[in-house]
Amino acid sequence: MARVQRYADGSRVPGWDQAVDLTKEPAPVPEPATTPVPDELRATIEAYMAKYPDRRSAVIPALAAAQRHYGWCSPEAMDQVAAVMRLTPAYVESIATFYDMFENEPSPLHDIYVCTNISCSLRGADELFEHFVETLGDDAQFNVRSFECLGACDIAPMASVDGVYVGPLELDDVPRIANDARDGRPVLPSKQIANRAVADPGAAVPVPDPDAMAAGPLVPPERGRGEAAAPEDEL
Ligand code: FES
Repeated sequence: MARVQRYADGSRVPGWDQAVDLTKEPAPVPEPATTPVPDELRATIEAYMAKYPDRRSAVIPALAAAQRHYGWCSPEAMDQVAAVMRLTPAYVESIATFYDMFENEPSPLHDIYVCTNISCSLRGADELFEHFVETLGDDAQFNVRSFECLGACDIAPMASVDGVYVGPLELDDVPRIANDARDGRPVLPSKQIANRAVADPGAAVPVPDPDAMAAGPLVPPERGRGEAAAPEDEL
């Protein structure tokens, strides 16, 4: 059975309990004059800041925008978020390194998050995750990670493929998912959560929420991410 990676101290996050260097000068808020920010990214971050009485409330969507722009939360991206928001890089980094969906390393083209939490685990997620790793672990295009509950327990075992939820998954679905992602097709349309039948006929219809649409998944569009497909795309 595939094990969730842990470091020597038993933690999944290296260094979280190491003492900070209190003798070190704190990094200042980056100077706008020396921290160029792409216009589009700056405008997006400022739009988020305008929504909240305390601008710090916009750090998560601002980081998400930076990740969509660059593909990951690089040190430069975090500096740019800090410069626009007038925060220290440490404040921004503390949030970017806390939440699992922010990538702090250059990320492969496709993100596959396999939920291995309790509901999915009871329905075979550990074997599924192991199969994903065996099939795609050596493929540089794919970032395969086990994940805590992704909030879609009703389609357990499930995975998020470039932000698109699919499930319930079987082992045979893994190569199909890989091929769909590689070829830029909608991933496994028949098992996308967006295409599931629901009792409320209006529930599955996307609500045109401009904010949600502007936010989008935490991935840049140019990375060829999978998209939710209409039911008629089903093979
Ligand atoms: S346990 Fe897998 S989505 Fe909730």
